[in-house]
Amino acid sequence: MERRYIHFETPELAKIISDTPPAPGPEEVLIAVDHAGINRADLLQRLGLYPPPEDASPIPGLEVAGTVAALGKNCSALQEGDRVCALTHGGGYASHAIAREDHCLKLPNSLSTEQGAALPEALLTVWYNVVERGQLSANETVLIHGGSSGIGSIGIQMATALGTNVLSTAGSTSRCNAVEALGATFVANHREGSLIEQFTDAGYDGKIDVILDIAGGDLMQANLDLAAPDGRIVCIGVMRGMQTEINLATLFMKRLTLTGSTLRRLDTGERARCFSAIRERIWPQVVAGDIQPIVDQAYPLAEVLAAHEHMRLGTHFGKLVLDCQMG
Ligand SMILES: NC(=O)c1ccc[n+]([C@@H]2O[C@H](COP(=O)([O-])OP(=O)(O)OC[C@H]3O[C@@H](n4cnc5c(N)ncnc54)[C@H](OP(=O)(O)O)[C@@H]3O)[C@@H](O)[C@H]2O)c1
Repeated sequence: MERRYIHFETPELAKIISDTPPAPGPEEVLIAVDHAGINRADLLQRLGLYPPPEDASPIPGLEVAGTVAALGKNCSALQEGDRVCALTHGGGYASHAIAREDHCLKLPNSLSTEQGAALPEALLTVWYNVVERGQLSANETVLIHGGSSGIGSIGIQMATALGTNVLSTAGSTSRCNAVEALGATFVANHREGSLIEQFTDAGYDGKIDVILDIAGGDLMQANLDLAAPDGRIVCIGVMRGMQTEINLATLFMKRLTLTGSTLRRLDTGERARCFSAIRERIWPQVVAGDIQPIVDQAYPLAEVLAAHEHMRLGTHFGKLVLDCQMG
C-alpha cells in the first residue's frame, strides 16, 4: 500500500510525497481518504505561523472522510470498509490518514465523502464552544458571527436544531440572504454600517445570550454591548485582530463571561467526550438531512495552493475540501 501526502517545501511550493501508510495505534484506525476538509489553521501552518503541536503529524489536514482500511487492536466500534468522517491530529492532506476510533463518525449513505469531510472540525468547534463553553440552552438567542464560513454555516444549523433563536453576520447582502436561508432569523452585514445599530433596529440590543466570535478585534466591544445580562461570549478567531480595547465596565455591569478555546489544543479525551455528545444530540439530524454540510468547491490534492488562495480571499460559502484521490 502506498500513501501520498502533501508536503509544503516552502509556503508557495507544495509537493506530493509517497511513502508507506503508518500503522494505526491500538485505539486508532487507518482511513483511506477520499476527501479532506480545509481550515484557516492550515493556511497559517503552511506559512509557518501556526506550528502543529509536538505530538501531531507534521502533515497538514485536520479532518477527513473516506473508508476504514485498518483497525488498531483495541478498536471495536468500527469495521474495515466502514465509511467515516474523522478529526485527525494532522495528516489529513493525504491518501491515507490516522484518526482515533472515538474521533470518527460513521457516514450515512445519504452523505458523500466530499460532504463528510466538511463536518468534523465544524461540529466539534461549535459543540465545544457554543454548547459547552457558552452553555447555550433551548429558547435562548445565539449570535454566530461569520454565518457564511465553514464554522458558521454548520453552527447556524446546529443551533437551530437545538431549539435556539439564531442571529448571524456576513459580508454582503447576498451572503446575508444565503445565511438567512440556513435558519438564521436575522443577519447583519458587517461591511455596511454599525453592527450595533443593525441588531438594535432588529430588537436584539442587550438580548443575546451567547455569542460565537470568529473574528475578534473590534467585534469584541460590539459583542459586549449586544450581550444580554449573564451572557456568554466565546472567541475562537482573530481575523479582525488579536488586540483590541474593551470597556471592562460592560463586562461586570452585565455579569458577562468572556472565554475562548482552540480545538487543536483540546486533549483527546475531551474531544472524544464531545464526539460522544455529538453522536447523541446532533448526528441524528445530520443523518436525517436537517443539518447539511455546505461544500463550495473540491480541489484535487495537487491543487492545494489554489484551494488555500480561494480560502484566503474569503469568497467561498461554507467549506472548501480537497479530493485526495485526484492527484
Ligand atoms: N479556535 C478554534 O478551535 C477554531 C476552530 C475552527 C476555526 N476557527 C477560526 O474560526 C474562523 C472561521 O473558520 P472557518 O474555517 O469557518 O473559516 P472560513 O470558512 O474561511 O470563513 C471565514 C469567513 O469569515 C468572514 N470574514 C472574513 N473577514 C472578516 C472580517 N474582517 N470580519 C468578519 N467576518 C469576516 C468571511 O465571510 P463574509 O465575507 O461573509 O463575512 C469568511 O467567509 C477562523 O478565524 C478560524 O481560524 C477557530
